Amino acid sequence: MTTSGQVRVEREVRVRAPGKVNLSLRVGAREADGYHPLATVFQAVSLYEEVIATPSDELSVSVSGQQADRVPLDLTNLALRAAQLLAVHTGVEAGVHLHLHKAVPVAGGMAGGSADAAAALVACDALWGTAVPREELLELAAELGSDVPFPLAGHTAIGTGRGHLLMPAMSRGEYHWAFAVREEGLSTASVFGVFDELIAGATRLEPEADRALMQALRAGDAHALGRALHNDLQHAALELAPALVEPLAVAEDAGALGVLVSGSGPTVAALARSRQHALVIAAAMTAAGVADQVLTAVGPVPGARVINSARARSADGGPDDSD
Ligand code: C5P
Repeated sequence: MTTSGQVRVEREVRVRAPGKVNLSLRVGAREADGYHPLATVFQAVSLYEEVIATPSDELSVSVSGQQADRVPLDLTNLALRAAQLLAVHTGVEAGVHLHLHKAVPVAGGMAGGSADAAAALVACDALWGTAVPREELLELAAELGSDVPFPLAGHTAIGTGRGHLLMPAMSRGEYHWAFAVREEGLSTASVFGVFDELIAGATRLEPEADRALMQALRAGDAHALGRALHNDLQHAALELAPALVEPLAVAEDAGALGVLVSGSGPTVAALARSRQHALVIAAAMTAAGVADQVLTAVGPVPGARVINSARARSADGGPDDSD
């Protein structure tokens, strides 16, 4: 916060970051560090988390939007941890209040919490004027969680390592989705735990990104992409939430080009032929009562970005002097 004469200038930084769907998720055997090596292809989709950062003497968070009551307000909140990590990394002694407005399902396998963290990094960096280089922000993001770097990057990317090492992937055209959201989330750690039980004793090859899928993306061929969608965690998610077979079946019957559980679930993603067809699939899922909520979205979309950096209000109640 700065003071200039009589005018107290209070900045507000607003950032939005997208959720994701894993078009393909190939998982190797658990390693000594407890994590599984992955080869995944992420696509960022147009369900956005919004984070509004305002100056404060403390670190605090408030939440609104979809399933807001399920988001913790203590330091287990990934966005708060992102702010804290950036402050420590840069030596900034300022606090921040973060307001999260949620549109990505909570604990749904679409990286909503990770998008909050990615957005918080970008918002605090702008608010505090720390100008941390992008590569460093990506490293901080990876410290927060395997899925946090991707919502920073957005678009389409291959993720390796724990899913945190990103390489941009070429993708042509737009892909339309319908999502079946379940009220009760799934814990990523428990889905990986069931995955371990299911593959016990089997030899696992080093996971690799799918060639057919990358080719489909390069060609902008939604039909080929639908055929290539794949998730090694789907079986484990279905063990924990057997009712997910229902939205999968309804979306298939409604002509989806491909259906899968998104990431560690329980959100089910259905690839449509067009925006209109995504609405038809969503309506079919609603009519069949196989989801607590249905959403539609398009991908790929860009990563976390500042959507306004307003000097919100002067102390004399004068008009915004912002962009
Ligand atoms: O990295 P993050 O904290 O988001 O991961 C949550 C949990 O998911 C980990 O504790 C681990 O159990 C599991 N995980 C995994 N292999 C990965 C990513 C996550 O086993 N590549």
